[in-house]
Amino acid sequence: MDQRRMPLVEQLITYKNTAPVSYHVPGHKNGTVFQEEAHRLFNDVLSIDVTEIKGMDDLHHPEGVIGDAEQLAADLYGAEHTSFLVGGSTAGNLAMIVGSFSVNDIVLVQRNSHQSVFHGLEVSGARPVFIEPVIDNETGMLLGADLNAVNDALKLYPEAKGLILTSPTYEGYVQPLELIIKKAHEAGVMVMVDEAHGAHLIEVQRDWPASSLKAGADVVVQSAHKMLPAMTMTAFLHMQGSRVDKAAVKRHLRMFQSSSPSYPLMASLDAARAYLAAFLPDRYERLYKKAADFRKKLGTIPQWDIAPLKIAEFLQDPLKIVLISRSTATGLMLQNSLSSHGIYPELANDNYLVLTLPLSLEWCDTVEKIREAVSHYPVIREKECIAIEALREPVTELSFSYKEMASKETCFHDVQDAAGQVAAEDVVPYPPGIPLIMNGERIKPRQLERLKELIESGASFQTGTAWLHKGLKVYKKD
Ligand SMILES: Cc1ncc(COP(=O)(O)O)c(C=O)c1O
Repeated sequence: MDQRRMPLVEQLITYKNTAPVSYHVPGHKNGTVFQEEAHRLFNDVLSIDVTEIKGMDDLHHPEGVIGDAEQLAADLYGAEHTSFLVGGSTAGNLAMIVGSFSVNDIVLVQRNSHQSVFHGLEVSGARPVFIEPVIDNETGMLLGADLNAVNDALKLYPEAKGLILTSPTYEGYVQPLELIIKKAHEAGVMVMVDEAHGAHLIEVQRDWPASSLKAGADVVVQSAHKMLPAMTMTAFLHMQGSRVDKAAVKRHLRMFQSSSPSYPLMASLDAARAYLAAFLPDRYERLYKKAADFRKKLGTIPQWDIAPLKIAEFLQDPLKIVLISRSTATGLMLQNSLSSHGIYPELANDNYLVLTLPLSLEWCDTVEKIREAVSHYPVIREKECIAIEALREPVTELSFSYKEMASKETCFHDVQDAAGQVAAEDVVPYPPGIPLIMNGERIKPRQLERLKELIESGASFQTGTAWLHKGLKVYKKD
């Protein structure tokens, strides 16, 4: 297919050039009705913020320009079917999970998944079995589920219907997907990959980690807005093969997404796909070199070490850089210093911070500005290296089914000594949005230690921190 085409973008340009008169929603009438000061900022976007009028197709029944744009994306990624998403990977994860599993289906799931994966499992009523990820001892980074862990889980749960992986992780690490997916398929298990951070991992390029679609995954969800030049909230859901019920997943996309999806968002997906297609393949090689050069220069700053591009069998996306503090500052403190110099990293915690590089050859490195921003922190040459214990056992389950949880009584328990209790609420540090403690999970001492470390380092929690003074909500013992 001609990947230079952008059917949806082209249709919006044509529409805009006809000086259209609007007697339809949205109420800003192509931007002619709007708050005056804000208008200057929004004007260009408002002129293409249309709805399902003639020629504009319908996301939930695409037969025209949206269908063509989705077809081009499927062609580029090598998927059988691609859907555009306007509710982020969150909507895609919900639809793929709720559309594929029902009450009490056993689903193996990597424990360091995003909360949307667990929300999907809860809504479906499935029985999740958690696979603990490999931990990098030096940084405490949660990598991915390795082949051994997946094998163990498949043996323990031969009746499992699905396996849900997250790859790459927030820090950009990818497990050997092909082997894992092959094993799961041999056991008759469908594989879904939350590839929110990997929409640019399109082909197996030399030095770049594998794409999960190419590795054989049945369903893949990607936040286009994270690593591609696309607008926030945009994502793709790809499907292939006969294991997934495509019609059921699409029906659930209708349930979880707006019936009035944003055309600027959808058109930005069309544009991002064309951009990505143009980037292949030689610019990838040049970008690899550019990113490697930036990485090397950052490595001359003594306040941190750089996490390697390969840890055991986990390969890192070259567009992610993890800076492990080797100074008196935590990752969050380093992030604050950088932000006060106008440089904004993607994520930080007590040990490290993560930078996300652009999918472009046109950016200038800011190494000297970065050096200056963190240079006041004294360097600690020999940082104490403590072996980091896993947070949980290799394979775990919730203590109760979601249905049981709905009717169980709860009470509040002092969070400091909640080990052994079964949590009745989620505790989700954000970013990255991975639950540290999950509703229905028996709390381990190591989880509480980690919670303490996060509080001390000033982490934010998307689920709030009411548990600090009110106590943690737990299930009453029968
Ligand atoms: C691994 C992972 N999956 C899913 C999501 C949700 O993506 P979105 O923000 O596109 O809804 C995130 C968000 O950070 C994520 O990190």
